[in-house]
Amino acid sequence: MSKPVILTGLRANGELHLGNYLGAILPMIELQKKYAGKYQLNMFVPDLHSFTTPIEHDKLYLQIVQNLKKYVAGGLDLDNEDTYIYRQSYVAAHSELTIILNNFVYYGELQRMTQFKEKSDGAKDTSISAGLYDYPVLMAADILLYGAEWVPVGEDQRQHIELTRDVALRINNKFGEELLTVPAEWKKQVEFAGRGDGVRIRSLRNPEKKMSKSIDDPAGTILLSDTPEAAAKKIMSATTDSQGEIHFDLKAQPGVSNLLQILALLIGEPVDEVTKKWEGKTNYGDLKTAVASEVKVFLTAFQKKLDAIDEAELMRKLESSEFLMRDVALQRLYRIQQAVGLRP
Ligand code: TYM
Repeated sequence: MSKPVILTGLRANGELHLGNYLGAILPMIELQKKYAGKYQLNMFVPDLHSFTTPIEHDKLYLQIVQNLKKYVAGGLDLDNEDTYIYRQSYVAAHSELTIILNNFVYYGELQRMTQFKEKSDGAKDTSISAGLYDYPVLMAADILLYGAEWVPVGEDQRQHIELTRDVALRINNKFGEELLTVPAEWKKQVEFAGRGDGVRIRSLRNPEKKMSKSIDDPAGTILLSDTPEAAAKKIMSATTDSQGEIHFDLKAQPGVSNLLQILALLIGEPVDEVTKKWEGKTNYGDLKTAVASEVKVFLTAFQKKLDAIDEAELMRKLESSEFLMRDVALQRLYRIQQAVGLRP
């Protein structure tokens, strides 16, 4: 296990959506193809992160397995021997490292996390869980346990990656530079994943906001389980603006820019190139039709692949990966426990 590590995870509460696919699954698949044989790829389900926002506990297990299937339907090649899939809760070292890291992260740092502020905004103190507050520390443990330098995520996770770097640097300063691999800084992360400034797909209804799993925005969110026709309809009724000309301008024209961004990622071209083709055109309907058509093509192929997945094979890969990752994670946990004085 000496290859550099690329790692990402997608929570299992609620259904995955197009933002998840374009922000995290697709870059992972592209990196797997690009770096076959040179990098280790860890694509896991952070199932312990599921409790930080409301979930239906009786559906969780099914959703965990569904997530894994969606990685495969998105193109993850399970035959690649440097690729590992696992459930966070099946590798106990994640939780153990979190408890240690908690003591090297400051209260103020966690309070500043935008996601914490957004999710706890307006909620009563009695309904904000310690789990929600501590969530970025568990995420740091997920990354640091495997020495991952590269973590392809959407732009909404940027602050968490930066916090992980800060914690790793702080710990290394105290216990030695070699102890933890510090993940690359954000600018390098997005360059590595070939993603400009990072991906933030917006709600089709309210493009000021990101596309999210929240159930109060069904028309703004394309679920990976939506029928291709329903998804196309959502694109056709996406909120745009009254400027009457197509430009890529996230501030003045977030809706139109979002459509250009979705189109570019789906057809695998840089957004600048795609923008050039549409720049100055006045018919928003044509742009919507082009995006709707690509979304349909993508969802049709994705869902076909999803239906054909051999679950037994997936479970075999999952269990063998978990077996190996438990060992890898424990080795690093022991080194950290030694450094902090818990072991001789
Ligand atoms: P989560 O589960 O909220 O989202 C999973 C991935 O999807 C990306 N994403 C988006 N990208 C672009 N546009 C959007 N609208 C959009 N919405 C979501 C997220 O950025 C993410 O990459 N904390 C993480 C899960 C996690 C993790 C980790 C990730 C836990 N441990 C370790 C990487 C490494 C989260 O809640 O993502």
